[in-house]
Amino acid sequence: MHLRRKAALVALPVLLHPVLAQKVVGLTGDGWTVSSKALNISVPGKLPSQVHLDLYAAKVIDDPYHGLNDFHQRWICNNNWTYTSHPLTDLSANAKSSWLVFNGLDTFTTIEVCGQIIGTTDNQFRQYAFDISMALESCKGDPTLDLNFGSAPEIADAIANDPDSEQWPYGPQQIFEFPNRWYIRKEQSDFGWDWGPAFAPAGPWRDAYLVQFKNEESVYVLNTDLDIFRKGQINHLAPDQSQPWVVNASIDFLGSLPQKSSMTIEIKDVESGKTLKTSSLEDVSISRQTITGCVTVDANTPNLWWPSGLGKQNLYNVTVSIQDSKQQTLVNVTRRTGFRTIFLNRLNITDDQLAKGIAPGANWHFEVNGREFYAKGSNFIPPDAFWPRVTEERMKQLFNAVVAGNQNMLRVWASGAYLPDFIYDIADEQGVLLWSEFQFSDAVYPSDETFLENVAAEVTYNVRRVNHHPSLALWAGGNELESLELPLIQDAAPDRYSFYVGEYEKLFITLILPLVYENSRSISYMPSSTNNGFLYIDLSAPIPMAERYDNTTSGHYYSDTDHYNYDSSVAFDFGSYPVGRFANEFGYHSMPSLQTWQQALDPEDLHFNSSTVVLRNHHYPPGTTDTHNFKNSSKGMGEMTVAVERYYPIPHKHDSVEQFSAWCHATQLFQADMYKSQIMFYRRGSGMPERQLGSLYWQLEDIWQAPTWAGIEYDGRWKVLHYVARDIYQPIIVSPFWNYTTGDLSIYVTSDLWETARGWVNLTWVDLSGKPIPGNAGTPPSKQFTVGALNATKIYETNTAKLSIPDKTNAVLVLSLTARGHLPNSQTVSTFAHRNKVTTVFPNKLSLLDPKLLLSHDSATGTFTVEAKGGISLYTWLDYPAGVVGYFDDNAFTLVPGEKKTVRFTAQKDETGRTWAQGVTVRSLWDQTTN
Ligand SMILES: *[C@@H]1O[C@H](CO)[C@@H](O)[C@H](O)[C@H]1NC(C)=O
Ligand SMILES: *[C@@H]1O[C@H](CO)[C@@H](O)[C@H](O)[C@H]1NC(C)=O
Ligand SMILES: *[C@@H]1O[C@H](CO)[C@@H](O)[C@H](O)[C@H]1NC(C)=O
Ligand SMILES: *[C@@H]1O[C@H](CO)[C@@H](O)[C@H](O)[C@H]1NC(C)=O
Ligand SMILES: *[C@@H]1O[C@H](CO)[C@@H](O)[C@H](O)[C@H]1NC(C)=O
Ligand SMILES: *[C@@H]1O[C@H](CO)[C@@H](O)[C@H](O)[C@H]1NC(C)=O
Repeated sequence: MHLRRKAALVALPVLLHPVLAQKVVGLTGDGWTVSSKALNISVPGKLPSQVHLDLYAAKVIDDPYHGLNDFHQRWICNNNWTYTSHPLTDLSANAKSSWLVFNGLDTFTTIEVCGQIIGTTDNQFRQYAFDISMALESCKGDPTLDLNFGSAPEIADAIANDPDSEQWPYGPQQIFEFPNRWYIRKEQSDFGWDWGPAFAPAGPWRDAYLVQFKNEESVYVLNTDLDIFRKGQINHLAPDQSQPWVVNASIDFLGSLPQKSSMTIEIKDVESGKTLKTSSLEDVSISRQTITGCVTVDANTPNLWWPSGLGKQNLYNVTVSIQDSKQQTLVNVTRRTGFRTIFLNRLNITDDQLAKGIAPGANWHFEVNGREFYAKGSNFIPPDAFWPRVTEERMKQLFNAVVAGNQNMLRVWASGAYLPDFIYDIADEQGVLLWSEFQFSDAVYPSDETFLENVAAEVTYNVRRVNHHPSLALWAGGNELESLELPLIQDAAPDRYSFYVGEYEKLFITLILPLVYENSRSISYMPSSTNNGFLYIDLSAPIPMAERYDNTTSGHYYSDTDHYNYDSSVAFDFGSYPVGRFANEFGYHSMPSLQTWQQALDPEDLHFNSSTVVLRNHHYPPGTTDTHNFKNSSKGMGEMTVAVERYYPIPHKHDSVEQFSAWCHATQLFQADMYKSQIMFYRRGSGMPERQLGSLYWQLEDIWQAPTWAGIEYDGRWKVLHYVARDIYQPIIVSPFWNYTTGDLSIYVTSDLWETARGWVNLTWVDLSGKPIPGNAGTPPSKQFTVGALNATKIYETNTAKLSIPDKTNAVLVLSLTARGHLPNSQTVSTFAHRNKVTTVFPNKLSLLDPKLLLSHDSATGTFTVEAKGGISLYTWLDYPAGVVGYFDDNAFTLVPGEKKTVRFTAQKDETGRTWAQGVTVRSLWDQTTN
């Protein structure tokens, strides 16, 4: 297994300059060796990489995602590993100084140059630079690097056992698999979460460089903070849109600059290539290893950047250069950015708002370029347990699905990793706002000086690194800290409650808030994801933001909401949903498709309650490193089963794999319907006193193949949820609210356009064969409506007892909306169409008829046409085979006999040699129970 290959370390082009010079050797690529002395393993490695990936590539281990390998491969993270470079042959002999720069080491490393320790690291999220000039001098022959990675679970335990370490009461410290994650600055979900595996990987997960300076006055750029804001802007107040833009450029560097350095800037429109501005920067100052300057840009000169659906994503290249006193350029930095303001409004409700019928309390919504908008989206978790294999191609595919899904915002949840720039770049291009969080979740964290210093470096680096991205929407301190952790602390240690609130504020307000504000004038900060806002902000106070916590008045609204209820008996009870200003997470888990399961399971495991399926369900987590967590996992499996049995026809197939597939599908139907019900409710809230302006469901995508809350499976396949969410996230929707206890039925139209829209809704009662119900069951066949900007209007209200429906099990109300209006920032009138349906019994009580679905494919146009020849087809589901990833224009739709539905399939990835079209099938609810 021992293999040493000739150098493949990539040398970047040498930047030569008449006087000033530096040499940058990229350490990325092959040519590394990964080894464990204790285990007597040595295999070829890469950078960036992680040990699991290199062991898998070397065939020492099987696919980590196969079967129960997340348990079987625990030995990897329980050991120490060393990444050793090939001898570095192309270094400069007469450098003045030499540095190692790491953009990400996961996590505990001791770094050696020619056997000499030059430094250690303990934070996955920081950038590290080490002066290795002295160490290099002592090398005999070509230098080598050793990166020794310690076992993270072992080190976390050692810190926990240190008598100097803080200890907390039991309840609030949520353990998924490995304990003690809160002591270490590593992706918290690496130690397990309820939707993912616990691999606790180690390795150099981001790029690294060896930088050599040949001359005193030479610099290497470590990080750049480009901050674009409206003059006078303050993070937590609405920016004045008439003010000029301020562009503040700040560059962190290695090496040294001449005292009399100056800075210039060039701003270029990416689309037209036209130069918007070239100028020298004002107020240039150098402090330590940072140079900063700024310039103003006329208020109306740049074209604004807008999120998807609200306007164009106008982008600009900003090139900042540093010159010496002879006007020689020492360095250029280019960042692609956009001009926009994004503001999280948590200010008190004003008198003007009260006069408009908005309930008192505080706002909790976003404003882009001074405009309120409805935030539609979901929560983003790490797309893989191993970040080095998250490619640009995969992320483009995912973000295409986000935009195709009518989503304009993702919450980048707090216990994965800060996203690499290339993902923000994709979000900038596609118009997806990223509510970004610092990596703290579901635990109480230390607040000793060493920990705070470590966090401060992490926060500063990441705030500066991503600040130029127009997609960056918000910084939040962490996940569920105020809404869940503080109440848990209250329960576990009531007498120490105010002490722990103090600790919380020390880290998330006193430390982090000023770090965000010092490095960004453009982005709002809040300490935790779900919260009741603040009472006031006083930047000179020791605790600059006074959170409202539970200092609230009933009947007032202050907060965003998070909602999980695994009692499926109230899944469609609107009275059980939270009423607030913004819904930032809610959901229920479901199974992935058969095709996705087949990627990870042996054929004999393809049934609903096989040990492997059950143990891959980490809801509920074991709370220990126990790998036989049948008790908790079965509870989660039971919740899915019970939900299906309550509302949907129970699958009944002879073939065991088909039966498994039908069950997986059934759990997805429940999931999608439940989210749809909540999204309709939250969106309608835009026209209610709570003035609800956001819905981000849990969760966008999967980290692996398992039962989870995701709408998109691991390889990109859409569950029923992502299609249904796309449908209900359309700009103008018709939504029924049926109270199955009282029989009350009301129909609303909700619009998130920025101006009034008009149209009509056809309401058509039919039986399941598609025949009209006499007299339309007493319902008017059509209703006209006018719906205001970002508003909802009730178009019809009745009680099912008043309707003349001969047989409730044989009746469907088809709602069909047509409307006209302007999309935000669009000059042309658009036509909107939306379909919905109502049944007055749940789907399992319907007297379903065979819809006799006919599917045809037109290879010339690439379209698929479905027709129901028998009866109404509910949840009409087009399915595609393994080997291709993509999505249909529409899916899970209702089809009435006589209608033809033609859809296209967008293939995002095809490994079938274009033969997949022959494998496309169609089914409906009726097929769930038939062979
Ligand atoms: C890993 O290295 C540390 C520090 O040298 C050592 O204490 C520990 O025993 C090692 N762990 C294993 C599993 O070899
Ligand atoms: C903007 O910058 C990118 C990346 O540096 C470059 O590929 C692109 O050509 C630039 N566009 C313009 C118009 O300068
Ligand atoms: C900076 O950019 C300018 C203009 O493109 C170019 O002429 C110069 O060589 C660059 N300088 C350095 C140090 O990269
Ligand atoms: C907001 O309202 C609260 C009462 O809920 C009040 O205590 C606080 O001072 C107000 N804040 C500001 C900035 O007016
Ligand atoms: C609640 O708010 C009131 C007024 O806004 C303030 O005087 C009081 O100190 C607050 N209480 C807490 C516990 O923060
Ligand atoms: C029906 O309405 C009542 C009264 O508003 C409410 O309490 C209940 O939650 C509703 N039930 C359902 C099923 O929506």
